[in-house]
Amino acid sequence: MPAAHQESDKPPSPHRLCVAPMLDWTDRHCRYFHRLLAPSAFLYSEMITTGALLHGKPERHLDFSSEEKPVALQLGGSDPDALAHAAQLGAQWGYNEINLNVGCPSDRVQQGRFGACLMKEPSLVADCLQAMSEAVNVPVTLKTRIGVDEMESYESLRDFIDTCQRSGCRTVIIHARKAWLQGLSPKQNRTIPPLKYDYAYRLKQDFPGLEVIVNGGIENADQAYKHLQHVDGVMIGRAAWNTPWVLTDMQRALLPPHAHTPETRDSVLQQYRSYCQRQIRHGTPLNWLIRPILGLYHGLPGNRLWKNHLVSQAARRPTDITILEEARQKIPHPAGSV
Ligand SMILES: Cc1cc2nc3c(=O)[nH]c(=O)nc-3n(C[C@H](O)[C@H](O)[C@H](O)COP(=O)(O)O)c2cc1C
Repeated sequence: MPAAHQESDKPPSPHRLCVAPMLDWTDRHCRYFHRLLAPSAFLYSEMITTGALLHGKPERHLDFSSEEKPVALQLGGSDPDALAHAAQLGAQWGYNEINLNVGCPSDRVQQGRFGACLMKEPSLVADCLQAMSEAVNVPVTLKTRIGVDEMESYESLRDFIDTCQRSGCRTVIIHARKAWLQGLSPKQNRTIPPLKYDYAYRLKQDFPGLEVIVNGGIENADQAYKHLQHVDGVMIGRAAWNTPWVLTDMQRALLPPHAHTPETRDSVLQQYRSYCQRQIRHGTPLNWLIRPILGLYHGLPGNRLWKNHLVSQAARRPTDITILEEARQKIPHPAGSV
């Protein structure tokens, strides 16, 4: 695999490597951890609904650490005015991009008439994107499926994207499987409908000026590299949570050299430890902070003991940072070596 920077003289897209929005997972702590692993990745917040943002306490949803940048705020909603207002809040808070979720198939989201079911209302999606774009100075992007229910041909996806891009949206993230709006849970909708990466590749051919990011089932740097021969970027979801070190592999293999790319998992743990100490002082319990790092030593001997120690002890001793060193000792490799 040639190194990213040897491929062309053009600077790589800022979206060449993205980490997916994942509800309950990619909160600010998880994103901080992912930033340590992949210094140039583009990170996405979990989906925040316009209702939660406009009628709740925005700081609860929007606060983040500046180290997370570049970071996008993902919004869920279908009312152009509410989305414009929510996008403004996101831009004021310093998010680098506002993304609209048109991919979530959950019942709750459908009842609110947003997420994947919006694929059936292209002109409404275009109105939303336009209202958001007019409200902020940062890019407004779209994350969508390749179809919903019987709407599954490439042509219907192309027409949908065509309508969206007329609103000025220049970047689309394509989760390359369709969603069934009835009968499948969100989890099943992430595994059962088959992946059709060629739909994303064809979009890039049909809309060469559009930045196309492909998402779904990408697990390692080799797979990501193959997609990048066809599209501008890859977005990694579950693999970033289950096997986070792949983000460092991808950073190295796909992006120009970056001085802060970590050499070892242990160095990442040290840096995340300092972050945890600060967060504990602000009242965040350790059992919340450890969630994204459980997979850090995936594949190494002692991995299961590492995880068990973190989970069991952090629940009992939510402010005791030494749990991290204790758990690390379950991995037989000498400290600093992996
Ligand atoms: C726990 C979980 C929560 C998710 N929440 C969101 C979300 O808030 N917004 C969204 O657009 N997609 C969400 N997704 C979908 C992911 O962004 C991604 O599209 C999907 O997992 C496919 O990518 P992957 O195969 O790399 O995981 C979620 C996925 C998971 C596993």
